[in-house]
Amino acid sequence: MPIFFEPNDRVFTLRTDKTSYQLQADARGGLLHLYYGPAIDGCSLSHLVAFGGKSFSGCPSDVGTERDYTFDTLPQEFPVWGNSDYRGTALRVTWPNGGSSLDLRYDSHRILPGKPGLPGLPAVYADESEAETLEITLKDRFAEVYVILSYSVLPAFDAITRSVRVENRTGDALKLDNLLSASMDFAGTDWDLLTFGGRWARERNMTRTPVHNGKIVISSNRGASSHHQNPFLVLCEKSTTEDRGCCYGLSLVYSGSFTAFAETDQMDQTRLAMGLNPECFCWTLQPGESFTAPEAVLICGTEGFGSMSRQYHRLYREHLCRGKYKHARRPILINNWEATYFRFDEEKLFAIARQAHELGVEMLVMDDGWFGKRDNDLSGLGDWFVNEKKLKGGLKPLVDRINGIGMKFGIWFEPEMISEDSDLYRAHPDWCLHLPGREPLRNRYQLTLDMSRQDVRDYLFERLSAILGSANIAYVKWDMNRSMMDVYSAVLPPEQQGEVYHRYILGLYELLERIETAFPDVLFEGCSGGGGRFDPGMLYYHPQIWCSDDSDAIERLEIQYGTSFCYPVSAMGAHVSAVPNHQTGRVTPLNTRGIVAMSGTFGYEMDLNKMTDEEKEIVRQQIETFKRYYDLISYGDYYRLSNPAENHRYAAWQFVSEDKKKALLNYVQVLTTANPAPVIIRLRGLDPAASYSVNGMVLTGAALMYAGLRMPELPGDHQAIQIEITAV
Ligand code: DGJ
Repeated sequence: MPIFFEPNDRVFTLRTDKTSYQLQADARGGLLHLYYGPAIDGCSLSHLVAFGGKSFSGCPSDVGTERDYTFDTLPQEFPVWGNSDYRGTALRVTWPNGGSSLDLRYDSHRILPGKPGLPGLPAVYADESEAETLEITLKDRFAEVYVILSYSVLPAFDAITRSVRVENRTGDALKLDNLLSASMDFAGTDWDLLTFGGRWARERNMTRTPVHNGKIVISSNRGASSHHQNPFLVLCEKSTTEDRGCCYGLSLVYSGSFTAFAETDQMDQTRLAMGLNPECFCWTLQPGESFTAPEAVLICGTEGFGSMSRQYHRLYREHLCRGKYKHARRPILINNWEATYFRFDEEKLFAIARQAHELGVEMLVMDDGWFGKRDNDLSGLGDWFVNEKKLKGGLKPLVDRINGIGMKFGIWFEPEMISEDSDLYRAHPDWCLHLPGREPLRNRYQLTLDMSRQDVRDYLFERLSAILGSANIAYVKWDMNRSMMDVYSAVLPPEQQGEVYHRYILGLYELLERIETAFPDVLFEGCSGGGGRFDPGMLYYHPQIWCSDDSDAIERLEIQYGTSFCYPVSAMGAHVSAVPNHQTGRVTPLNTRGIVAMSGTFGYEMDLNKMTDEEKEIVRQQIETFKRYYDLISYGDYYRLSNPAENHRYAAWQFVSEDKKKALLNYVQVLTTANPAPVIIRLRGLDPAASYSVNGMVLTGAALMYAGLRMPELPGDHQAIQIEITAV
């Protein structure tokens, strides 16, 4: 069993296949973090903890006159505000009298088989053969407030999930001002931090920064996990590379505002923490109520970033994504957005579909513009009724026609939004988030529906169900195109307005659960102006998410590279689009666009009628290639072979099947050069003793991994090739 308890010194050890995590309830009941890293069997590491007072570090009253115990310096598991710790804390409450001190001590613990779900929240799931859970109950020294820390261990994934439940068993309401999901203190400050920031159309750029004196904070206060930061970071040794050294991933299963930080302290320790963003959170906990924070997922990679990423990929693919399309092959789609924007009718869509179908595409996705009065982005959101001026006779005749040529049909929605110029807004102006007496802040001319309201969710459920039930719809693209502001609900009292950000996300999750339960055969793809809500919370509902509105193949190299640190390729929506590219104006070869989009869910976002016969033939072959490699790409192990942000000459990445019998090397020559030096790529993940056929040669896995493969000189910029490697 992966959880061990040593009762004499109250040490808990959580053991995954390759890692150990250790914590201790010390003699005073403080919960200390002892260790996280490569497995250390059979040892207690309590000798590492330096007790002892420090000037200007306060002591809790039970320490008396000893001055030898302060939370200010101890390595902690769940630091709280007001008990002498002055570093960033994971919990701050306000008592009815306005005070905020809290002093949590160990109360009890239990070990459970399996992994319980979290009420109303997405979470990793696992059965009793796959996981075990430790629940440690902490209690405030002076009041009946309990904090239950849950640790679920999934040994085969080297994963530990953490969540927190606060129970108010006092007779008074109290406020939670700050509640993070996980925090831990690492010894030393000699660490680097990887973060994944960006902006619209430039999401998840990996940045490596040394941890330094003070605090590095990443966060979103946009009501969504955002394009600008991702709820994922990695702490690593200075020497950690793709395949060597230790690193610690921290990922939050949440789609709203979040915060995370790495903070060094006076004792040369580094605190890593993540959870709800306190700027957007204040929750009143009535007597008898409890509150559960979102889940954080920790994975320690003992053999470099790649080992950590591959465990996240497997875990999120197998134990977070759900439903029919977790394993079923997803259709190759064509989306009309970049082909037509808002200017389409059923004939135009049919023409796009027919040509695509002839080349092997399996599904047409009708994007924004099919409903209400929606000829541009100024109006119509909320009116989820088919616009029969565009689609004569409604949806069913079009869907039947598309089905009739052997294609599936998918549809776009942006359920959470409302246009002021819509019938819905005219009927229910109070259904959006807005502050009474002030003019609203618009973003893409639209306002946000108050998803915390049951009546709003019921309306959306009724409308979406009516549309999805009206024709044979196989796919939904669930979009969300603004950052939130004016986050105020017309139905909550003033003292609960601090709850709206989180209630919004809970409401969204509830609606997604309801609609996806009602339509279990529909494939859902998440989207938020591209990758503005590319997070594990959304992956629980949508097995794939549109990775970015930037469909330029060269820019995608960096976006997909950054995304791959946490998220599997099977989750990354990626399409071939027209050139010059609509976001960058860059012209790249169709072959390269295909190879890059194939390292994702693969589809097209253009009118294939506009192609030459030669290009159509390339499309036909791309589709065949993708189908041939589908399992390898979607379920294989992913290896990053270059960092496209640093290497402007080429980008390379590789898929390897689980049995190591097949691999696919993808190589993009980003910029060529005169008189080029040879590029030799060392492959990864092969069986060193096995022989492989590659480029007409037979080489051992050892030769391919340790010596490498010389890439051909390709003629010009932005050229790409795929090389198959097969065991013989
Ligand atoms: C943003 C999405 O990312 C695009 O793909 C497209 O669906 C537009 N919204 C439509 O408004």
